[in-house]
Amino acid sequence: MISKAMADALNAHMNFELYSANIYLSMSSAANEMGLKGSASWFMVQYQEEMTHFMKFFNYLVDQGINISLAASKAVPNTYSSLLEMFEKTLEHEQLVTSRINELTELAVKGKDHATQIFMQWFVTEQIEEENNDRDIIAKLKLVGDNGQGVLMIDGTLGQRVFVPPAGGAAPFPVV
Ligand SMILES: [Fe+2]
Ligand SMILES: [Fe+2]
Repeated sequence: MISKAMADALNAHMNFELYSANIYLSMSSAANEMGLKGSASWFMVQYQEEMTHFMKFFNYLVDQGINISLAASKAVPNTYSSLLEMFEKTLEHEQLVTSRINELTELAVKGKDHATQIFMQWFVTEQIEEENNDRDIIAKLKLVGDNGQGVLMIDGTLGQRVFVPPAGGAAPFPVV
């Protein structure tokens, strides 16, 4: 049993993870249009990850006896001037996610909601990885600057990323 305030906050964040998924799906399309197939594939993997985050919140709420409510999805941007801009926006977005994850955790602590505190731990750790990945890619992109060959080399490396379903249950949807 979780409080109504906790359930509402988790539900709102579940919708935000779906919004994150949409942002990266759109970035995948934008990278593809730029001829950066590796980056398009990286963002597709990121989209899949966000869908698993969304499903983790969904499953947790359902397991707590909550009938979830899906919000109308907000339109996401789809124009970017460079791959660097895409990753800078990605880092910015993930920093926002981190602050939201911290707020949810704080709410669980204040409400002495031990189950939700344990549930949130996974996301607290995950956000370190998310921000770190983005910072690393941004640093590499800044090193090569406008050098097309350099960008293509990074693009090739990004294309090697593979989707790994998180521990504790794979997403119940077909993986591309
Ligand atoms: Fe996420
Ligand atoms: Fe991740």
